[in-house]
Amino acid sequence: MTIGWATKTAAKRKLSVPHRSITSMIYVSTASPGLEQDDFQAIMATSQRNNQRFGITGLLVFNGFNFMQCLEGDRSAANELLNRIRMDERHSGMTLLGHQETFGRQFSQWNMAGQYLPVKQGLAQEGLSAILADAAVTDATRTLFQSFRSLGAKTPEQ
Ligand SMILES: Cc1cc2nc3c(=O)[nH]c(=O)nc-3n(C[C@H](O)[C@H](O)[C@H](O)COP(=O)(O)O)c2cc1C
Repeated sequence: MTIGWATKTAAKRKLSVPHRSITSMIYVSTASPGLEQDDFQAIMATSQRNNQRFGITGLLVFNGFNFMQCLEGDRSAANELLNRIRMDERHSGMTLLGHQETFGRQFSQWNMAGQYLPVKQGLAQEGLSAILADAAVTDATRTLFQSFRSLGAKTPEQ
């Protein structure tokens, strides 16, 4: 009986956490005062350079006040990067909204897709919708980024 249980558990573990499982994390944070589009572009440039090297993919959105980022990669690489980003003085208050082990990547084409969505431009930007339309992106991730995009958007005048 013990052997049966052990075998089943091992098989289950093998299935649920395969060798090449991907760690996926989504957080929000608050940008430091005065942070602008140029700073965002600099973060994007660094991200694209480093993430390719470390097998990290994801999406980073900045609305002028807050960031939302999804990071995905091998567990150690993703955790190490998240800790590095947490210490970055260009933002604060990092709050993890999601953390899961998955079988595949949601943003496999992007070492870091980036969107600057200034609140003043409201929901007008279509770039984010195109990125989120990929079938690999889960409903949960899509909902989080769409909610973030709606933050601060003006309601239509009555
Ligand atoms: C909101 C935010 C997101 C970031 N995302 C990444 C990222 O995906 N990859 C990355 O390498 N650095 C990212 N950074 C920058 C890191 O905090 C850090 O400055 C950088 O990794 C240092 O790289 P370097 O040693 O090549 O200069 C981010 C910073 C902020 C503020």
